[in-house]
Amino acid sequence: MTLEKLRKIPRVKLCNAASPLEPHHNLARLSGAKNFLIKRDDTNCFATGGNKARHMEYYLGDVMKRGADTLILLGGRIHNLSRMAAAACAKYGIECHIIIEEDESGLCGEPQDLREILSSSMLDAHIHIHAPFKNHQQAKIAMQKLADSLKEQGRLPYMLHHDSDRMPVEAFGYIHAAAEIVDQLDEMDQEVDVIFCAVGSGTTVAGLLFGLRSLGCDVPVVGVSVGFFPADYLKQQIRTKIDQIAQLLDEDDLVEDEDILVTDDYSTQVVVTSDIDPNHPVALAAKYEGLLIDPFFNSKSIYAAFDYAKQHPESQVMLLNTGNVTPSYYNPKTMAQRPSLLQEAV
Ligand SMILES: Cc1ncc(COP(=O)(O)O)c(C=O)c1O
Repeated sequence: MTLEKLRKIPRVKLCNAASPLEPHHNLARLSGAKNFLIKRDDTNCFATGGNKARHMEYYLGDVMKRGADTLILLGGRIHNLSRMAAAACAKYGIECHIIIEEDESGLCGEPQDLREILSSSMLDAHIHIHAPFKNHQQAKIAMQKLADSLKEQGRLPYMLHHDSDRMPVEAFGYIHAAAEIVDQLDEMDQEVDVIFCAVGSGTTVAGLLFGLRSLGCDVPVVGVSVGFFPADYLKQQIRTKIDQIAQLLDEDDLVEDEDILVTDDYSTQVVVTSDIDPNHPVALAAKYEGLLIDPFFNSKSIYAAFDYAKQHPESQVMLLNTGNVTPSYYNPKTMAQRPSLLQEAV
């Protein structure tokens, strides 16, 4: 029923879903799990992939449904959404405007910021550097000002903000992911005890949980805070988003409060590649599976999954890998040195 209703909701095509669900025998052996499955949303393909590819399919569907020709959003320090929004807009001929806060040094010069600015600019987004915002309200005012000036120029802007009163259409992407998981487990004749997934705003977990429960799958989902917010706040956010999804689809809300599980115990598990503990699950995944896990978002969720497996021998765990590996490792400063290295070699 839920999937039927989703067919009627405007969506653009960006992902090459279904993403694979793969067993990782070496991680299972090293953690003591019976099975260590990874849902490879890092392979979603579009603009280096990740969970935002699924989100953007519905964001852009909504932009087009409303007849807008311009998208405005707030960028951030490690903001995959900016990159994906710029890429999706490039593909569908929408003008993309990204407001990025200047950092405190006034340089806007964190490597991550530079990276996002660079890639978004290459993807033809308009970047607006803004003095630091004191609060979210100020940021919204800046978005509104930009929208007003674009309207004066004859454009029809759509503002993508993160207020809790905005309906999270992008979460629908993870109802599809839930359906894929249910089908894939069935095809593999496989069960899982628990699914771990990174949580920043809660949108991904809200869609996943709603999707799984509406498909009759009761596997617990543990959201692992990436460190932006504490667990209690994230639980509330996920609750609100699930209620909104149910409202949007006009369906019963099958997710109980006790079913919303979030931990913030792993927020410090950021990986610095030059100084990585060889026993960190990110290092083990690379060394024994040839699998690169991003050092910021999924470094925490894989740590939580690994920890669970160590504490529950013979368990069957799944990690939903939300991606972003390539840009997180990419360092523009190193890349900038390349032409001179090449010149030396010639
Ligand atoms: C790679 C990656 N994983 C996970 C998340 C968290 O997703 P959500 O904001 O839907 O909780 C984000 C977004 O911040 C992300 O970019």
